[in-house]
Amino acid sequence: MDDGGLYKKQLMEYAQDLARAYSQLRRNQAEFLAALVTLLESKAPALRGHASRVAFWSLRLNEALDSPLEPGMLQAAALAHDVGKLGLPDRLIRSWVAENEEDAALLEMHPDMGASLLTHVSAFQDWIPWVRHHHERWDGLGFPDKLAGKEIPLGARIISVANAFDYHMHGYAGEAAYTLAATSGWLESRSGKAHDPDIIAVFTSMPLEALWANRLWIEEEK
Ligand SMILES: [Fe+2]
Repeated sequence: MDDGGLYKKQLMEYAQDLARAYSQLRRNQAEFLAALVTLLESKAPALRGHASRVAFWSLRLNEALDSPLEPGMLQAAALAHDVGKLGLPDRLIRSWVAENEEDAALLEMHPDMGASLLTHVSAFQDWIPWVRHHHERWDGLGFPDKLAGKEIPLGARIISVANAFDYHMHGYAGEAAYTLAATSGWLESRSGKAHDPDIIAVFTSMPLEALWANRLWIEEEK
């Protein structure tokens, strides 16, 4: 083999090593997030599966929107969106019911706590704002920063719809679960108020029934 051939072979090997290291890094990050989510769900059994379902719906919505967001980043942010709840007292994580103003203020701190926790991992920086802003509202009445409209990062607007959909379909914090039709109607009533109207229009025109069946299949695989 001549020098050029050797050089090319060496380059190929470097590229392969780099690809292996990168996929190992991605795997480690996913495992770290899975550990956080497992810990959270062990403290609030009603939350079990919520993070993976929000990730599932966020990814489907991302595809339907033909959005420029990198699916792996959106999946990580959707899985991690509520890890800040780990910073709250256990009774609040479990019940998610505010007994007084102090509790209500604590509950509203979870997106910021999540962002602070995740900041320790440098590879997460690009999508941490999607965690921090997943409770902002299109009309500017959300938290923690009262961002409005497109000031809210697209990843956060997507996760916000997936999150609301899953809470309503499964029931949480003492509320009953709803049917698919009722949940779609409820989301439409929040269009332009809590949620981005364009995202709601795309979400409610997705084949939700077929996707819902698919989601059940994913749960059976666990
Ligand atoms: Fe949340």
